[in-house]
Amino acid sequence: MQAQDHTDPMDAYSRLFRLDGRKAVVVGAGSGIGRESALALAAHGATVVCADRDLTAATETASMGPGLSPRALDVLDGEAVTRAAEELGPVDVLVFTAATNVRKPLLDYTAEEFERVVALNLRASFDLVRAFGRGMAARGGGSIIGFSSIRAVAVEPGQGVYAATKAGLVQMLRTAAAELGPSGVRVNTVAPGIVDTPLTAQIRAVPEWSEAYASKSALGRWSRPDELAGAVVYLASDASSFVTGSQLFVDGGWTAIDGRYTPPS
Ligand SMILES: NC(=O)c1ccc[n+]([C@@H]2O[C@H](COP(=O)([O-])OP(=O)(O)OC[C@H]3O[C@@H](n4cnc5c(N)ncnc54)[C@H](O)[C@@H]3O)[C@@H](O)[C@H]2O)c1
Repeated sequence: MQAQDHTDPMDAYSRLFRLDGRKAVVVGAGSGIGRESALALAAHGATVVCADRDLTAATETASMGPGLSPRALDVLDGEAVTRAAEELGPVDVLVFTAATNVRKPLLDYTAEEFERVVALNLRASFDLVRAFGRGMAARGGGSIIGFSSIRAVAVEPGQGVYAATKAGLVQMLRTAAAELGPSGVRVNTVAPGIVDTPLTAQIRAVPEWSEAYASKSALGRWSRPDELAGAVVYLASDASSFVTGSQLFVDGGWTAIDGRYTPPS
């Protein structure tokens, strides 16, 4: 390893995932994957702003360890996003997890539901990347991490609009990687499989649906939200210094296998 600050490569490797002295903002930190991401980033030395529309939930996350502070932020309010980026000062890492899904066939979708899913999953992501990416580019560095989904590449009935927003997010962030790369800013997405959080409570509540999803992954189970935190720390840290424009699947093998049938041996 080429050590820049440390002469001993073993010492440098031992710090590869450390985030001491870095400032991170996690949008969606009040719940699920966002909460675990905030905790893991702080455990690796970052100071973390736990941003969420639900200030009570963000405050609960922030109370779980040192280096965490809460902030109310509704990313559907574009001006509030711009204001947050200005007020928070230099930010090294932006993670955003806030998203929503309305699971129903395309023919049953209302225009209002379409607008609601696109507004949070795509439009708010666009605003966040622009608001925080501008400062990162001006300072010459940063890491932006968005959350896509296995639905960006594999669909099922009822996922049309959500899937479209996740595929769209991947392409938007790839473009951001292309545009901000020359300024030293890396931009990546994490694609979870099926994770036990409030977002999937509707599925968990139906045993047949829940078990069908578990059996679709190579590991034969759902993931816990903390199993996504390692990917976030990796993409935030120097361990991924040459990784940008990528989509990191943390899906228990869901997208690798067909999963419907095991032929007799
Ligand atoms: N849970 C899964 O199985 C799964 C699977 C694939 C992808 N994902 C993706 O991972 C990400 C995180 O999902 P999760 O399961 O942790 O979700 P979650 O519903 O548990 O948490 C989302 C958080 O975002 C916050 N939020 C919602 N609207 C907001 C707004 N307008 N402004 C600010 N904050 C807002 C909520 O208050 C909540 O704290 C999402 O992008 C989701 O699409 C999740």
